Amino acid sequence: MKILGIETSCDDTAVAILEILPSRKGRVLSNVVSSQVKLHAHYGGVFPALAAREHAKNIDKVFKLALKESGLKSLDEIDLIAVTRGPGLIVSLLIGVAFARTLAWKYQKPLIGVNHLEGHICSNWLKSIRVLTNFKTQRSKVLPALNLIVSGGHTELVLMKEYGQYKIVGETLDDAAGEAFDKVARLLNLGYPGGPIISRLAKEGNAEKYPLPQPMANSKNFNFSYSGLKTAVLYLLRDLKKITPQMKADIAASFQKAAIEVLVKKTANAAHQFKVKTIFLSGGVSANKLLREGLAQAAKQELKGVKFFKPSLDYTTDNAAMIALAGFFNYRAQKEKTDFSWKSAEADANLKLSS
Ligand code: KG4
Ligand code: ZN
Repeated sequence: MKILGIETSCDDTAVAILEILPSRKGRVLSNVVSSQVKLHAHYGGVFPALAAREHAKNIDKVFKLALKESGLKSLDEIDLIAVTRGPGLIVSLLIGVAFARTLAWKYQKPLIGVNHLEGHICSNWLKSIRVLTNFKTQRSKVLPALNLIVSGGHTELVLMKEYGQYKIVGETLDDAAGEAFDKVARLLNLGYPGGPIISRLAKEGNAEKYPLPQPMANSKNFNFSYSGLKTAVLYLLRDLKKITPQMKADIAASFQKAAIEVLVKKTANAAHQFKVKTIFLSGGVSANKLLREGLAQAAKQELKGVKFFKPSLDYTTDNAAMIALAGFFNYRAQKEKTDFSWKSAEADANLKLSS
């Protein structure tokens, strides 16, 4: 079965083609992502109207390239179209959905809507699709699982007791973690996106130099808050007045420590409370070394027996291969009425409904 995935929920225009063979092995035939990072850099974050305009301009080109790279001759060879239906920027989502609906109508293909967060969760299996399609044998080793999804738009802890059954057990009450990296980078005049720049600069800094607050680190729930940390950096910069390059590096390191430690701590606490067997990580911030190492260490030391699944960097940021895979599972569940309950595509419009 061949699935066309389309993703336009934020600032990446992405189209991918995935093949799932009858043997249950899968492979990504093409995975094209057109990033708008350079355009949004000027604003220090994603500017929605500009994102939508760029999606509209690029989607056909990205689609044609994905088709070409896949080696398929035409869309007639596709069995299913999967498109991100939310959450995301409405104006951006509309472009992808309209494009997908047009293709589905023109080529008379089934169309399925995919929750973006479910796509991120599924990205963890893209490197080993064989494992993913072999649920029954893997299930007892993997579930229940805890997913930490951290990007410029999301900071969520999602408990997965069963494949396709999700419950948000923690989320940010204000800014997303990636957004905090972006905003702090802007305060430091470092450029956009801030995450990679701050983590690079942090290597030259002293993380103990400026103790910064970790909002909600000790709260009993698993929610996060990042706006206070960002404001603390703002006040620190105001008080310091003259900032040397070394001071910038020290602030970057101190901020990174505060931002990441709270993610690790809350994820470990939730993993403990919900007695999970595995921890999965996805979203752009998952590239952060301190976060990957922190979770690996927590799983090994505090949470003995819990496996931390280090994600492949190929699929952690927004892409359409993860959307195609999530679409495949939802479609198969609808079609085959399998014995595990993947939520129906109609019901998956918003994960928050189940929290
Ligand atoms: O998933 P993604 O590509 O796009 C969405 O936001 O949906 O994530 C991008 C975010 C940006 O906020 C970026 O600053 C952050 O991920 N990021 C990082 C790192 N690499 C990217 N944050 C911290 N450390 C990193 N190494
Ligand atoms: Zn995303």
